[in-house]
Amino acid sequence: MKILRKVSEVADYVAEQRGRGASVGLVPTMGALHEGHLSLVERAVAENGVAIVSVFVNPTQFNNSEDLASYPRKEEEDFKMLAEAGTAAVFAPSVEEIYPDGTEGPSHKFELGKAAEVMEGLYRPGHFQGVAQIVSLLFRIVTPDRAYFGEKDFQQIAVIRNMIKSEGIDVEIVACPIKRASDGLALSSRNALLSKEQRAIAPEIHAALKDSVAYSLDHSVRATHDTVVERIDAIPGMKVEYFEIVDARTLESIEEWEESPWVVGCITVYCGKVRLIDNIAYRVPKE
Ligand code: PAF
Repeated sequence: MKILRKVSEVADYVAEQRGRGASVGLVPTMGALHEGHLSLVERAVAENGVAIVSVFVNPTQFNNSEDLASYPRKEEEDFKMLAEAGTAAVFAPSVEEIYPDGTEGPSHKFELGKAAEVMEGLYRPGHFQGVAQIVSLLFRIVTPDRAYFGEKDFQQIAVIRNMIKSEGIDVEIVACPIKRASDGLALSSRNALLSKEQRAIAPEIHAALKDSVAYSLDHSVRATHDTVVERIDAIPGMKVEYFEIVDARTLESIEEWEESPWVVGCITVYCGKVRLIDNIAYRVPKE
C-alpha cells in the first residue's frame, strides 16, 4: 500500500493508474477506523481498479474545538487495517498541505440546498460547509469515479449529492449500509471515547429506534417520535439532542406517514459528552 502525503503525489499516482486503465474508488475518512469503514473499503476494492482511502481529520467541519482536540487519532493502526483490506493507496496529508491559507473555513459558500439547513445543519453551524470544502477538495485531488460513504451519516450523503451537483463534479456517490456492533450500536470512531458504563447503555439508541418501527405501524408520527425520545431521555447519562422523522428524499420533517413513501428517523444523542448519531427507516419505497 502506498502512503501519499502530498497532493502532487496523489496526482502522479492517479495519472499512473488511469494510464493503465484502472478506475478509481475513493473512501474519504477521518481515521480511527473500524469495521464500518472497512466495509466501505472492501466495496471500493471490489468495484474499482484501485481503492484510495483518505485519512484526514478535517478541522473546518468541527464547530467545537474541544470536539476536534478529542477526536480519536491512530494512524499506524489505521494503515495496517487498510493494507489488510486491499487498499492500493492511502492519502494522509497534513493540515498545511490541504489548507495552505489556513483553516478559517471555505471562502466560497457552497450551495448545499435545504438538506443542509436541518438537523446537523441547525445544531452544528458551519459543519456542512466544512464537509463540502474537504470533500470537494478530495474529489478534485483524487478525481475518483466512485466515492463511498456510510449511511450512518444519512444527511451528509444528501448534502454531498447536492454539493457535487452545484459544483459540477462528476463522481458516483455510493451509499453503504450502517455497520453495527452485535448489540446494535452503530459503529463510529467516536465510540472509542465512551467509558465502559457509557458503552453499556449506548446500544439503547438503536434498540429504541428499532422498537419504534413496529410501534409506528399503529401510532402517529408524533407518538412515535415521543416514545423514542422519552425512552432514551429516561436513561441516566443520555440526552437526545434531536430526533427528526423526515422524508428521506428531502430531509424535511413529516407529520403524517402518508406524506412520503420513504421515511427515515434521524437521531443525535449525547452519551455523557460523546455525541452519537444513528438513523432508521420507517417506510421504504416498494421496488
Ligand atoms: O464522514 C466523515 O468521516 C467525514 O465527514 C468526511 C466525509 C471524511 C469528511 O471529512
